Amino acid sequence: MTEKDEAIMGRRSFLKHAAALAIASTSFGQICAWGQTNGDAPLRERAARKGLIYGSAVNYGALTRDTKLAASVVRECGIVVPENELKWEALRPSLDKFDFTQGDFILDFAKKNNILLRGHTLVWHQALPKWFETTVNSQNAEQVLRNHITTAAGHYAGKMHSWDVVNEAIAPWDKDKQSDGMRNSPWYKLLGPKYIDIAFKAAAAADPKAILVLNQDHLEHDTKIDAQSRAATLRLLKRLKASATPVHALGIESHLSMDGEIFSPGVFRTFLKDVAELGLKIMITELDVTDIMFSQNINKRDKLVANKYEEFLSTALQEKAVIGVLTWGLSDKYTWLSKYMPRDDKAAVRPLPLDENFNRKPAWNAIAGAFDKAENR
Ligand code: G3I
Repeated sequence: MTEKDEAIMGRRSFLKHAAALAIASTSFGQICAWGQTNGDAPLRERAARKGLIYGSAVNYGALTRDTKLAASVVRECGIVVPENELKWEALRPSLDKFDFTQGDFILDFAKKNNILLRGHTLVWHQALPKWFETTVNSQNAEQVLRNHITTAAGHYAGKMHSWDVVNEAIAPWDKDKQSDGMRNSPWYKLLGPKYIDIAFKAAAAADPKAILVLNQDHLEHDTKIDAQSRAATLRLLKRLKASATPVHALGIESHLSMDGEIFSPGVFRTFLKDVAELGLKIMITELDVTDIMFSQNINKRDKLVANKYEEFLSTALQEKAVIGVLTWGLSDKYTWLSKYMPRDDKAAVRPLPLDENFNRKPAWNAIAGAFDKAENR
């Protein structure tokens, strides 16, 4: 750990972490024999012991303002992903301008703290800048898309663990969905389904080292919508593989709910196996568990959320093609769900591994336990 880390983490916590790191180099058995020490080992370390990576989404504003968040990220995360800073809305002030300021800050923070970085997202139907609709048309769309990806992925070439190249391309529930459950996104309207192939080929040319990911939501639950989404995603992946489009992994967002959305380990396990059989890796990219349907009692809510983390991750990590797990935030203090899926009783939501004061919760224990039980990669 560098002096910088020590400053960020604070002397006491730094010494505790250094002790855990020093001990982590001995055999796992000794650590278990010591009990408490293993209990302290951060998630990044537990994942790394099994050849996995754990991390979380971070956002520029919180990371620059909140030293406790920064210290918690350094302690727990082996990889980070900018929550919004690499989306078109943040990167593209105009058609002929790029602004990498916030993305570069997060890259610098990651490098200084020996943390990997993943990119999110080169192509999406959301978070498009205001100028997009009036500027991009069927004549220039392909050139605008190629230029965006070549410039953005090129800017971070060699420094990105992986990129979400195309995000949420499948939406069988969409009222005006296209054939095969494809979302009728602005990109689909402008270029047809080939926008996906164009995007992955441009990303591979710009950064041959990055793992190129098709990132998708609604794949996790045993519901009609998610079943349609899994089938359409498999069909899309098979088409991309058959046309030698360079897709390397499927990103499963994993925004989990228990509002009547059942999780069936067998169904999910079969889906993961089907994806792995295409020769693809898998990343759990945006994991969180909403607790809006539970009573206000925090202990009860935390336990139910932890049970969902444990059930989901113990299933997902059985598939050896799964190489990494990121939660969509690390602390409840900064979850997107506070704004997008608040509780009716106005109580703070608690979907993540650390609470609003960066204390570890039962969800943290569940994730730690899932890594400890996972087979080596
Ligand atoms: O930065 C502007 C700020 O300048 C402005 O004053 C403010 C006005 O509301 O908006 C700010 O931008 C917001 C941005 O988050 C940063 O806070 C956008 O309005 C808001 O739409 C955006 O929400 C993000 C959302 O994606 C849409 O991009 C959420 O934080 C983010 O958690 C969410 O993440 C998505 C993944 O990218 C894809 N998978 C689903 C996931 C959850 O929706």
